[in-house]
Amino acid sequence: MRTVALGGTRYPYFYGYDCMDRIVESIAAYDADRFIVVTDDKVLTQHGDSLLTKLGTHAPVQVLSLPAGENIKSLPNLASHLEDAIASGATRRSIVIAFGGGVPGNLAGLVAALLFRGVRLVHIPTTTVAAMDSVISLKQAINSGSGKNHIGTYHMPEAVYLDVAMLRTLEDRELRSGLCEATKNCLAIRPHSIADLRRVLAEGDLTAPGTLLWLLEESLEAKVSVTGQDRYEQKAGLILEYGHTVGHAVEICDQRLRGAAGISHGEAVMFGMLAAARISAAVGGLTRDDVALHDELAQALGAPVAVPSGLDVTDVMNAVRRDNKRGYLPVSEGEAAMVVLDQLGTPMGSRDLPLVPISMDLVEETVASLWAERHGLSLHH
Ligand SMILES: NC(=O)c1ccc[n+]([C@@H]2O[C@H](COP(=O)([O-])OP(=O)(O)OC[C@H]3O[C@@H](n4cnc5c(N)ncnc54)[C@H](O)[C@@H]3O)[C@@H](O)[C@H]2O)c1
Repeated sequence: MRTVALGGTRYPYFYGYDCMDRIVESIAAYDADRFIVVTDDKVLTQHGDSLLTKLGTHAPVQVLSLPAGENIKSLPNLASHLEDAIASGATRRSIVIAFGGGVPGNLAGLVAALLFRGVRLVHIPTTTVAAMDSVISLKQAINSGSGKNHIGTYHMPEAVYLDVAMLRTLEDRELRSGLCEATKNCLAIRPHSIADLRRVLAEGDLTAPGTLLWLLEESLEAKVSVTGQDRYEQKAGLILEYGHTVGHAVEICDQRLRGAAGISHGEAVMFGMLAAARISAAVGGLTRDDVALHDELAQALGAPVAVPSGLDVTDVMNAVRRDNKRGYLPVSEGEAAMVVLDQLGTPMGSRDLPLVPISMDLVEETVASLWAERHGLSLHH
């Protein structure tokens, strides 16, 4: 068990391997009059039985499930989940269980936050993103017609319960995406874990229990260490955005081009770190060896080491200009607010606001140099 502390908020995070029976027993102890399980059809098919059969012996269970995918995070789906829950007898004593990845997790978080102005929420994450990122956060949001996570609020869960064995059915691409995020944490927050990361990458079996537990513990440690005093993830927690300025821009452009088959979030962040490392070196931070380390890890992870084919520098730069970190640090038109590293594990700026203004020209030069590197390199995309 770990305690997640976000500002003044604390909740327990229980995890184990092959422990679904114990998870159900623990949830049963909350004395709920009803369980509202918010999930998606894929998770329901693959793992539903392990939760629902036993849970149903403790209280009535209502399952609210939708086809898997980011587009279910919508207002109409939120409204219909709320109406269904109320119509079938939810009360203030009911518990909403978020069962699945970050998508049903966010939808469930909002159902719990809004039902009778807030009922209890329990997370059972089943993806690396959910287990290592979204459940260690109070943020709950759905998408508007014009953008991601535009509609939301903060709602604290009672607890998180993870059966690490569930992650074994994830596609390799999802597990790799989780490892890319863990790599970000090692480079930006916990450089002393790089030796362990290299060992895990060398072993090669991403579904081995030891690897999955390492990944979880490492990610928890990193996230908790920077969000402890930062409940809303708007101060020290911004270090978690390392690699995200260029990474998110590439992710958006690539998904426009290739849809869901495009680059994963984690891979995009890994690529964004290659740019951030070069920028860090150009402004007097990281050394050439540090940049080489980023390259080595990206290659070991099978992440792209050059701008994915088909994307052009102008599109990527247009997306960089719309990056949402601008609001945290006043910057001029010709600058981006970025996380850059002074040394591995140490950001420039302050611990409380690890963002610095970087000239757009430098960002563009760096992206252009990574675009040029595509020639002569074999890419995954
Ligand atoms: N602070 C936060 O709230 C926060 C943080 C990070 C991400 N997010 C959100 O999380 C979402 C992304 O989460 P995600 O990547 O988990 O997406 P997701 O929930 O869509 O899951 C990805 C895919 O994996 C499938 N899946 C889930 N568990 C599985 C399992 N054990 N085995 C096989 N397949 C499984 C799902 O059905 C889905 O097809 C985004 O909407 C993002 O905004 C929120």
